[in-house]
Amino acid sequence: MKLRKLIELAVDNAMDVDPRGRKSIEKQLKKLKDKFDKMEGKDKEYFDTERLWNPYPDSRIIAGTGDEDIETVMVGIDIETPEILLADRLRERGKKIDCILIHHPEGRALADLDKAMGLQVEVMTAVGVPVNHAEGQLRPRMDRIWRAIHADNLFRTERAAELLGFPAVCCHTVADNLVWNFVEKNICKKEFDSLDDIVNALREIPEYAHYAKKGNPPIIVNGSGSNRPGKVVATEFTGGTNGPEEFLAEQSRAGVGTILSMHVTEKTLDEAKKHNVNMIQCSHMASDAIGINLLLDELSKAEKNLSVIEAAGFIRIKRSSKRSR
Ligand SMILES: [Fe+2]
Ligand SMILES: [Fe+2]
Repeated sequence: MKLRKLIELAVDNAMDVDPRGRKSIEKQLKKLKDKFDKMEGKDKEYFDTERLWNPYPDSRIIAGTGDEDIETVMVGIDIETPEILLADRLRERGKKIDCILIHHPEGRALADLDKAMGLQVEVMTAVGVPVNHAEGQLRPRMDRIWRAIHADNLFRTERAAELLGFPAVCCHTVADNLVWNFVEKNICKKEFDSLDDIVNALREIPEYAHYAKKGNPPIIVNGSGSNRPGKVVATEFTGGTNGPEEFLAEQSRAGVGTILSMHVTEKTLDEAKKHNVNMIQCSHMASDAIGINLLLDELSKAEKNLSVIEAAGFIRIKRSSKRSR
């Protein structure tokens, strides 16, 4: 499989389960294309043409042309220069590595992280938050993320990959959409008597089991184990990064009883306490690993020889059919 094909498949699969719905995304892409066609001069020159087909600004090729043949992929949740050096050492010892697949964005994918956050609006409206509230509260948070990232040294990892001759691709929201959908279907839609029962159900999922055995289990960060869950949602699994803490009060008003999250900020936890919303912090690494595993399962259908080197917090667990999605 060509690297270009890999990212195209990742985008296509993410759109299948996207909270915005494929139709709405395609409408936005079309609007952007019309805008692009009318652009001139510098505006056109600086326009990122990836945006015309890929609605996930934090997921893209960051090193390489896209024309590379990919069979063996080194996969990690966080990959920076040390892991690129690790890849180079492995290659020196005879391991074939055609590409590096990174979850948390680097390079241009990181520069545009704020622009991947828009889908949080639909994650909120899906649980009953009014769209005007979600949009109004998200905007300042997106601006803060943009300013914070803007000051970072964004391009170290991609340059390390280029210097050592590794194609590299970031698959962030394209994978997080898959785990969001997975947890919604496999946990949120089911009935539980207590928070403890949810934690036990999470521990039945192989990635959570693996990390739990290593001392990184799903934990209840607000509420007690015997609490009844009420309406359970997974609103902190996709959308680039954490949303604004104001989303907590909104969800409480919309009738949410328990939020499953990959990682909970202290401000959000304070709000959860104030509004008596239960929160379960599922293991961050295990959650991200589920998203990537679901993506790799799909990629494996297109590339029968796909093999994976697990690195940087990632463990490969295969699911045999679409049933688990
Ligand atoms: Fe993630
Ligand atoms: Fe993450």
